[in-house]
Amino acid sequence: MNSIIWSKFKLSLLDQRLLPLEVKYIECTSYLQVAEAIKNMVVRGAPAIGIAAAYGVVLGAREVFSNNATEYEKNMQKVFETLASTRPTAVNLFWALNRMKDKFYSSLKSDLNKVIETLEKEANSIYLEDLELNKKIGEYGASLLPNKCTVLTHCNAGALATAGWGTALGVIRSAKQMGKDIKVFADETRPLLQGARLTTFELLNDGIDVTLISDNMAGYVMKLGLIDAVIVGADRIAANGDTANKIGTYALSVLAKAHKIPFYVAAPYSTFDLNIKNGDEIPIEERNHDEVRKIFDVKIAPENVKVFNPSFDITPHENITAIITDRGIIYPPYEENIKIMR
Ligand code: MRU
Repeated sequence: MNSIIWSKFKLSLLDQRLLPLEVKYIECTSYLQVAEAIKNMVVRGAPAIGIAAAYGVVLGAREVFSNNATEYEKNMQKVFETLASTRPTAVNLFWALNRMKDKFYSSLKSDLNKVIETLEKEANSIYLEDLELNKKIGEYGASLLPNKCTVLTHCNAGALATAGWGTALGVIRSAKQMGKDIKVFADETRPLLQGARLTTFELLNDGIDVTLISDNMAGYVMKLGLIDAVIVGADRIAANGDTANKIGTYALSVLAKAHKIPFYVAAPYSTFDLNIKNGDEIPIEERNHDEVRKIFDVKIAPENVKVFNPSFDITPHENITAIITDRGIIYPPYEENIKIMR
């Protein structure tokens, strides 16, 4: 099931807020609709929001077109700014927008009438490359897993969060394809339940053995000896390997360390932000407090209770056994080895 479908000047986004209860696509024909969809998490997951934003740029380039290059450039600045302001943590969004920006400026200099076509090609490349990168991540990552093992994962780093196959779930899919006997424990991932709603949905559809647990059960299942490895995705990886991922990932890394279980991060190169020295500099999105006060719009707490709702946390590099990328597996010391891999 594709979370992103592009057909000339229409971007269909699978509404991930409704899964698994309803399979419905939202059609975007303007960049503002795409920006709203990213902000409201119709589309989510670091690589997927980058891809959606790239197509948002294509729609915007058509909407604000002008024969006057200076005016066109000014109009497009607004398109880029609007799409960039949707979600702050996943660097893939800014990486994709920068790629689109570079193409926009280079094609503006050559032939104004080719700008939209050039941007569309670039967005298609971002999409197709992501699919390929995930397959490579999958192959590298699967080589780390024993022939028979149980993996714990958090949030959804699967096909829905990418162009397809997935990063963390890509590793699991590739391992299964290689004939390994893989079982998965999926954290439900409060507050928006990406693990319960999306990860279990994807894995069940693929016939992969998955067991759902609530987030507070992770320590106990590790203590019981049920988990051989933890694999998660990433939203931004700093130059020293510190990794931002869905809230709850940090706690899992501490638990994994305490139980001597390998903790792997799986991500494409577009998730590295070498301009950022360490995790302290990664902006953490704080989302609407009702996401914690409610589940599926049903109140579960007093309306006026104070809430803290950071959407991501930082896993320090010393808790990460290895980072699985499309270019290979990176081991500590991360600062040096991430640079070599670039
Ligand atoms: O808030 P979300 O659902 O966009 O958060 C997603 C995650 O944290 C994923 O684990 C991460 O983006 C990796 S997706 C391949």
